[in-house]
Amino acid sequence: MIFPVIFVAALGAWFRYANAQAVTVAVPLSVPSSAASLNPSLLSFSIEQDRWADWAGTTSKNGFFLNTLHNLEQRTGHAPSLRIGADSEDHTNFDPSVEFSEAVFPAFSATTPYPEASNVVVGDKYYQIISHLPKGTSVIWGVNFGQNNLTAAFLEAQSIQNAFSTKAVKEAKVKLDFIEIGNEADLYHSNGDRPGTWNIAEYTKEWTAFAQNISAAAGISSNSSTKFIGGGFLGSGHSSNSFSPQGLFASGILNSTEGQLITSISQHHYSGSFCSGSAGLLQDLMTKSSIRGNLNPFVPDIAATRALGLDYVLGETNSYACHGAPGVSNTAGAALWTLDYMLFSAQLGISKVYFHQGVGYKYNMIQPATLTRSIIDGSTLDTPLDPHVQPQYYAGLIANEAIGKSGSSKIVELNINDTRVSGYAFFEHENLKHAVLINSEAFTTSSTGPRTSKNITLSFTGDGTERKTMTVKRLAINFADDANGLTWGGQSFETADARPSGTLSVEKINVNDAVALQATEVVLLSFHN
Ligand SMILES: *[C@@H]1O[C@H](CO)[C@@H](O)[C@H](O)[C@H]1NC(C)=O
Ligand SMILES: *[C@@H]1O[C@H](CO)[C@@H](O)[C@H](O)[C@H]1NC(C)=O
Ligand SMILES: *[C@@H]1O[C@H](CO)[C@@H](O)[C@H](O)[C@H]1NC(C)=O
Ligand SMILES: *[C@@H]1O[C@H](CO)[C@@H](O)[C@H](O)[C@H]1NC(C)=O
Ligand SMILES: *[C@@H]1O[C@H](CO)[C@@H](O)[C@H](O)[C@H]1NC(C)=O
Ligand SMILES: *[C@@H]1O[C@H](CO)[C@@H](O)[C@H](O)[C@H]1NC(C)=O
Repeated sequence: MIFPVIFVAALGAWFRYANAQAVTVAVPLSVPSSAASLNPSLLSFSIEQDRWADWAGTTSKNGFFLNTLHNLEQRTGHAPSLRIGADSEDHTNFDPSVEFSEAVFPAFSATTPYPEASNVVVGDKYYQIISHLPKGTSVIWGVNFGQNNLTAAFLEAQSIQNAFSTKAVKEAKVKLDFIEIGNEADLYHSNGDRPGTWNIAEYTKEWTAFAQNISAAAGISSNSSTKFIGGGFLGSGHSSNSFSPQGLFASGILNSTEGQLITSISQHHYSGSFCSGSAGLLQDLMTKSSIRGNLNPFVPDIAATRALGLDYVLGETNSYACHGAPGVSNTAGAALWTLDYMLFSAQLGISKVYFHQGVGYKYNMIQPATLTRSIIDGSTLDTPLDPHVQPQYYAGLIANEAIGKSGSSKIVELNINDTRVSGYAFFEHENLKHAVLINSEAFTTSSTGPRTSKNITLSFTGDGTERKTMTVKRLAINFADDANGLTWGGQSFETADARPSGTLSVEKINVNDAVALQATEVVLLSFHN
């Protein structure tokens, strides 16, 4: 779809910013050797499987959800990958007499307005509706390991294999990349699923026995395109005798025939687990150093995994556990966190970041179903809320525009001497193509004083094609704690069908002109000759 573009004059905006602090950002013209390859599905989704049928749609597709995926796909040429599983993966049984799924939910509360199902029973069509997804979508599906019931895992794996062999799924070209055996097994010794003494050695033994059976049931072999994804732990002990990639490898998980079918390692991570939010908490989430502090500890895990030629992903992640903190995870500030977190992950060598989503969770990018109670406190809504996108969704649009459609773009973090400003450069065919700049100072409804601004000047380094002009596209946010009302290049995606409304509006300036970057703002710069 082509939108009319308005080029707005950039200079007139300056009077709004008092005392803009000068920041110089060095940007390489051609790709540095330290740059990381970008997977076009860097932004991916982890879906709580108890309400998978609401996401996909049963007898017909969920058009709203499909549109949200399509918007993202348009920007990179690849649909986001999906992992379907999580907590309810370990509470799922199979019964061929169930049509789609039947779930039992515990009572909701003000802190957890939309709890996970305590019990889910699924039938064949639950898996078959995977055919509703965009062409070429890659899928990870989880099977029950927590309840230590091989029959459940076997029947699920068999039904998954049958679903992906149907004509409808084959025509849709949706691919089963991985089966995941169990969710966050590092917690089993503390949640009652296994004895308190259960360790990584026992895990590997039991995983291998399940994998033996599941590989036969789901047709996973050295020749199949479906493989196993390993790990999926909530934390990492980073050592050879812990629940971690290092522990998995030291326990010999890769030595068995089944273990050799592991081609990717998944890690889960949340930046905290607060259940009641505050503005302070929002700034903590967004802060540049705290994002780095959350991700840098995984550097040795990524290195250990990549050294064996395996892929490494964040298979389930989001801001704060507990489905997010109210007034924090559901806000515009969280969109800035999402973008910085995802791009920092990419340049650490994490190929995909699966942001966890459930119906009614505070930290969702997408609410795929009509909600009748508040995601903030569980109170009954006067009028039901139709499916809609939440602020974090804009981070996905921005990242995907920066990644682009080349299929071979690369990213490097820019070294910016400022505690609030982070930035990344994007390269296509070795040449500088885009830069993303994020000002993570939280400007909230309770901030006092004028909104601060950074006055950014670029200084180009190295050899490469000289750049003369750039377009500046802004994520406009009134306040970091706003739960809606954002615009991306003047367009809103908070519409009934998730398609953009409004006219695309960008600034076109000389590369030597300064760029104003307000507190709580993102700009995407696109360079032209
Ligand atoms: C921003 O920096 C440019 C270039 O150094 C300068 O000309 C301009 O006056 C600055 N603007 C503000 C608002 O500080
Ligand atoms: C084991 O799984 C099967 C299939 O999901 C289920 O019917 C059965 O009740 C489960 N057994 C136990 C003890 O939970
Ligand atoms: C897998 O487990 C199921 C359920 O216990 C059993 O019926 C089946 O024979 C097993 N398959 C293999 C290949 O071990
Ligand atoms: C994989 O394919 C090769 C060649 O077609 C075949 O010889 C081998 O038996 C297959 N292995 C498995 C596990 O299916
Ligand atoms: C796994 O295989 C490697 C390489 O052959 C070997 O060094 C290691 O001791 C084995 N680990 C276990 C636990 O069997
Ligand atoms: C970084 O910024 C600080 C404070 O603005 C300044 O004192 C320091 O000299 C800068 N460091 C570099 C390497 O530019």
